[in-house]
Parts: sequence; structure tokens; C-alpha cells
Amino acid sequence: MKKTPKAMILGTGRATPERVLTNADLEKIVDTTDEWIRERTGIERRFIAADHETNSQFAARAAQRALQSANISAEQIDIIVQGTVTGDVGFPANACYVQELIGATNAAAFDISAACSGFIYGLALADGFIASGKARYVLVIGCELLSRITDWKDRATCVLFGDGAGACVIGPSEGERGLIDTFIKSDGRLTELLCMKGRGTSIPLEVALAERKVFLAMQGREVFKYAVTAMGDASAHILEKNGMTSDDIDLFIPHQANLRIITATAKRLNVSMDKVYVNVQDYGNTSAASIPIAIDEAIEKKRLQSGNRCLMVAFGGGFTWGSALVQL
Ligand SMILES: CC(C)(COP(=O)(O)OP(=O)(O)OC[C@H]1O[C@@H](n2cnc3c(N)ncnc32)[C@H](O)[C@@H]1OP(=O)(O)O)[C@@H](O)C(=O)NCCC(=O)NCCS
Repeated sequence: MKKTPKAMILGTGRATPERVLTNADLEKIVDTTDEWIRERTGIERRFIAADHETNSQFAARAAQRALQSANISAEQIDIIVQGTVTGDVGFPANACYVQELIGATNAAAFDISAACSGFIYGLALADGFIASGKARYVLVIGCELLSRITDWKDRATCVLFGDGAGACVIGPSEGERGLIDTFIKSDGRLTELLCMKGRGTSIPLEVALAERKVFLAMQGREVFKYAVTAMGDASAHILEKNGMTSDDIDLFIPHQANLRIITATAKRLNVSMDKVYVNVQDYGNTSAASIPIAIDEAIEKKRLQSGNRCLMVAFGGGFTWGSALVQL
């Protein structure tokens, strides 16, 4: 019988704009304070792309770094899957632009629209493609330029988000190390709580512009409650399914939306904060990019080393959520 190959993370990379927007800078744009933002979110600064920079440029830069660290050439990639809701254009897929920029001439490229869960959804797909033998190397990218869909007049949302990219090369594992499991879920009854209504086809563009519906809109308090419950449940589910407890995990990487969501989720799971990776203070919420950026940083800082077990969990618009267990 054909042995099912196990997928593993072979290389990681990240890329961010140069421009940093601090809380003090935001005080000059909207009626807010550094103290309010830190207390409610833990965020201190975020990267914001310059007008001439594009999503695909950052995604390609992160992808090239991941390819380099995996020691894989762009031509060896079979699939490029990008989690994003802020692609360069309405269509085609942003992953196609990335394909062109990195020269991955043998790949099939497409996007996943799962908001902040896009990277975990991509990992789940990569795992399936590799396990079924339909692909050998999959490039999973999370990249967002949320600054382009942020309402810079709305203090309740504009302080939360940032721009950035993270990427992982996923390929077959030789041994026991690799992706242990993935879990994804959504609840389409809750689309209204976090969405951008006016850039699709249901509202005429001129109406959307007049009603300022062309920006990300969110009911913060509701999102907060669901995020903590869903991320806690997705983590507990994947641990239990694989006969593990939080004691078996070396590092917990939750989606970096808000420090209060992260600490509440860790508390729910009974995980001490020294096992939790936090970088939301430096990036804000970068949506689909937050987890691959964190993995790349954690490896660089040696918080994640070969053989370590890592639990990642995400939550986003849809609502969508999911978790992944990996042994590095
Ligand atoms: C957005 C969030 C930080 C707001 O915190 P909160 O404690 O729920 O605050 P509220 O929205 O209830 O607002 C409380 C007050 O602060 C005010 N406020 C909102 N944003 C503010 C800002 N940037 N600066 C100062 N005051 C602000 C509100 O106007 C409100 O004032 P009021 O009491 O006079 O009406 C919080 O709800 C949150 O983190 N939600 C999850 C968001 C998220 O992570 N989304 C992405 C998930 S993937």
C-alpha cells in the first residue's frame, strides 16, 4: 500500500513595509491615546505600506525568504496558496502575481478568502495536497495590506491593523516530524460582525462609496467574545483529538489580533503566558499574515527549534477559525 507522506514546514520567511505608525502618530489622526490603545489591545506600533507598494511585492519577498530557508527553488513549487482579503486587484488571484514575481513557473496559484484564518486554511489544504500525493512542495502565504481597507476616520478600527507578509514552504517529511493535524471551521451566520460590504457585487460601487461601505467594518465587542471561545475550542479540539494536552506543547502561536484576546484564550486553555508567542505590540493585527510572521520570528529567536511541538490557532471574518499542530 502507498505510504501517505507527512507534510512538514521546510522553510519560513516574512516581509514588512519600512514605514512604522506608532500610537503617538495615531493620536494625530483620530481622537485616541497611546494609553487607550495599549490597555485595550496591547498594540504599540504597526507597519504601513507606502502608496506605491503592493500586496504581491511583500508576499513575494516573504515567499523568496521561505524558499531560501527551505533550500527549494521556485520552479519546484507545485502549488501557491495565499490567504488574503486585500489582493492587488479584484481578480485574478494575488497568488498569480506572486507566481510571476518569484518565477514559480510550474505551480498552480490561487487565493483563499478566509480573513485572519487564511494561513491556517492554507496549511490544511497543503497538508491534504501533500498527503494525497497531488503536490510535493506547497508555498503557503499570508499577506495583507489592511491599511488599504481601513477607515482612517474610525478610531474603533484604525488603531488595530497593520500590513505584512509571512510564508512557509511545506513539503514531505522524511521522518516523524511534521504537521500532526489541522482543523478548520466557519459559521456563515456571523458574516455581519466583521466584513467589508462595498467592494463586492451586491452593492453598486457609487452607493458603497457614498455610504462609506468600502472599508472594513466590525462589531468589536461581539468579535472579541467569539474569538476567545472559537480559538479556545479549536485548540482544545485538536489537542484532544491527538491525545495531547497543553503540557505537550512547547509553543502556542495564536493569531495576533489583540493581547487581551490572546491572554483570555491562553487562560481558557490553561497555558502559561511564557509558552505563548506574542508580537502584536510590534505589528498590530496583520490578519492572514500574523501566524506565519510569528512562526518565522519564533524560529529566528530560537523560541521554536527542531523537534518542538507548536500549536497555532486563528480566528477571523466569516467567522472562520482553525488550528494546526506541528512538530518542527
Ligand atoms: C475593538 C476593541 C479594542 C474595543 O474595546 P472595547 O473595550 O470593546 O471598547 P468599546 O468598543 O466598548 O468602546 C469603549 C469606548 O471606547 C471608545 N473607543 C473606541 N475606540 C477608541 C480609541 N481608539 N481610542 C479611544 N477611545 C476609543 C468607544 O467610542 C467607547 O466610548 P463610549 O464608552 O464613550 O461609547 C475590542 O472590542 C476588541 O479588541 N475587539 C476585537 C477586535 C479584533 O481583534 N478583531 C479582529 C479579530 S480577527
